[in-house]
Amino acid sequence: MKRAKISVIGAGNVGASCAVWAASKELGDVVLLDIPQAADKTKGKALDLAQCGPVERFDANIVGTSDYTETANSDVVVITAGLPRKPGMSRDDLVQTNVKIVGSVAEEVARHSPDAVLVVVSNPLDAMVYTAWKKSGFPPQRVVGQAGCLDIARYRTFIAMEVGCSVEDISALLMGGHGDDMVPLPRYTSISGIPVTQFIPAERLNEIIGRAKMGGGELVKLMGTSAYYAPASGSIQMVEAIVKDKRRILPCAAYCDKEYGVGGYYVGVPTMLGRNGVERVIEVELDAGERDLFDSSVEHVKELVTLAEGFLNG
Ligand code: NAI
Ligand code: 2OP
Repeated sequence: MKRAKISVIGAGNVGASCAVWAASKELGDVVLLDIPQAADKTKGKALDLAQCGPVERFDANIVGTSDYTETANSDVVVITAGLPRKPGMSRDDLVQTNVKIVGSVAEEVARHSPDAVLVVVSNPLDAMVYTAWKKSGFPPQRVVGQAGCLDIARYRTFIAMEVGCSVEDISALLMGGHGDDMVPLPRYTSISGIPVTQFIPAERLNEIIGRAKMGGGELVKLMGTSAYYAPASGSIQMVEAIVKDKRRILPCAAYCDKEYGVGGYYVGVPTMLGRNGVERVIEVELDAGERDLFDSSVEHVKELVTLAEGFLNG
């Protein structure tokens, strides 16, 4: 059987960690690409990772490069290129720089891998996935953003810590943009089918939700840069769903037009992810309070996209 080809653009903290997860799960061959100034370092990271194969027991070709021809005909391309947050910065502060980087990367990727599914990770996520869609010229379903898989993993981790149970048994839903106004939904959170409110009182659950929403900032303060293991793990969860055509239902930044009445933007919603990218956006019922929170998060996404479009066209 032909191996899948997975390219990761940006071989920094998130990109290199994506390569590690993809290789260790034996999802396919991996190409790591960074700017020409980082060519040796990128080659070195790829070689270092390839040498884990005998111990971790994976077979994969791992290439480090700054040449897009090496990424040709990838099945999936993960875009992590761009600046990360530093302490005191919000994700939105990155828009001007990253819109140029992600725009040019998306053009190159589309030229070399016209049939790929793009998984965008660079921040501010909701505006960067929109930028990659515009610049790639791909159908919207073949461009998808990673945020929800990470944000929900943080929420699930904090719930498991509170209850003292396995993280595996926690099932949850989270929607909206990848900002501090993201919307975890306690009504759609359960532990092995039992509503979470039977384990955690409402007031405490609200505190946990607050921590999950600010989870990115908590790590920036601790590490002086933004997180990378869990963001990469969430990204590779999506890659696995795509390359194995698993049709998993995962929270992703997907293009919504009529869906939820969004009107042509990428926002976090439950999706079915498979070989073609977003196979379906799933519309769940929201009560009035949930709808208000979702709508205000979407408003923020729209403002960010307007800002990004200014830089993109300027
Ligand atoms: P990093 O600084 O460690 O790596 C970024 C890499 O991108 C660098 O190696 C840099 O040389 C490279 N790069 C810059 N311009 C490029 C170009 N034109 N072509 C190819 N590569 C280029 O940063 P890190 O921590 O890996 O974060 C990457 C991005 O991911 C940031 O924008 C960060 O905010 C975002 N992020 C998003 C998350 C999400 O959940 N959506 C979570 C964590 C980070
Ligand atoms: C995170 O949530 C900064 O988006 C990045 O960790």
